[in-house]
Amino acid sequence: MIRTVASWCEIDGRMNNLELHDFQPRLGSFRDEILKGLAQAQKAIAPKFFYDKRGSELFEQICELEEYYPTRTEIHLLKTYSQEIADLIGQHGLLIEYGSGSSSKVRILLDAFHQPSGYMPIDISFEHMLQASTELAENYPNLDVIAVCADYTQDFQLPEYNKKLVNKKLIFFPGSTIGNLDPTEALHLLKQSISLLKTGDGMLIGVDLKKNPTILNAAYNDSRGVTAAFNLNLLERINNELDANFALDSFRHWAFYNQDQSRIEMHLVSLKEQTVIIEQTPFYFSEGETIHTENSYKYSIEEFQKLAKRAGFDSTHVWIDPNNLFSIHYLQVR
Ligand code: AVI
Repeated sequence: MIRTVASWCEIDGRMNNLELHDFQPRLGSFRDEILKGLAQAQKAIAPKFFYDKRGSELFEQICELEEYYPTRTEIHLLKTYSQEIADLIGQHGLLIEYGSGSSSKVRILLDAFHQPSGYMPIDISFEHMLQASTELAENYPNLDVIAVCADYTQDFQLPEYNKKLVNKKLIFFPGSTIGNLDPTEALHLLKQSISLLKTGDGMLIGVDLKKNPTILNAAYNDSRGVTAAFNLNLLERINNELDANFALDSFRHWAFYNQDQSRIEMHLVSLKEQTVIIEQTPFYFSEGETIHTENSYKYSIEEFQKLAKRAGFDSTHVWIDPNNLFSIHYLQVR
């Protein structure tokens, strides 16, 4: 059920190009998913819960780290090929972005696009999305910004948009966030994306590549400890939003490349035997037991193209940096 929070022109009376829709994906599901995830034999928390205000700030710091190559490599690729991408979409495109966060990468596309009609950022964090989309609507007064607070990993419908002519739609999913889903979930997300599009529409998706594990391990174990703080912030968030008593200094960050599964795994390791209480439910941890907090799958070009094909896309273009670190795929709905 969508709650239209504000429609055109309402935001402090100044902007007439911003509309907000809230699917209200947050509270109920956060509590239920945490309690369920920690009750499993292998305790687990979905990585989408990293991104409260502090988590989003820490993630932005990760993106600036020397060891974390994906962000700067993807930005460089976008800058290099934005005209080529814009030509694939043509005039009056509608750009939809999953996990829009600070909406910084999309500006590279918007600046290159030929008279885009609208931009639809979709993000689970309402505050983050509100701030980013307000700024963007101010900076691009001729662009309609239709901001949607939703969990794009779940099935959902796009709000109707018919204020301006739209030729092609393009779903933009940067950052290799698809890597945080397992291949079955990734396939589901690609299929779900197709259901929001029509034949000839596109999806532009950043995908991190398989590479020397030394580079991967360094990217998720940075020397400044920002990734560790990002991982541990999940426990802080649970303490803040639920009635919970995690002692943050009783857990440590652990990340490693699992070659068999082609993925980085992130865990929080219990440093001692302990019991944590969340909303009156006790959760027992043995020393060394972990909460699995994230997978970050790495693909070869061929593996990802095969996945996209299974979903119903034609993989028409792929751009890769000279060091073979990162790829951007343009997929067209068959
Ligand atoms: C958002 N996502 C693609 C990041 C990744 O690389 O899997 C999240 C991240 N986790 C630790 N560092 C960055």
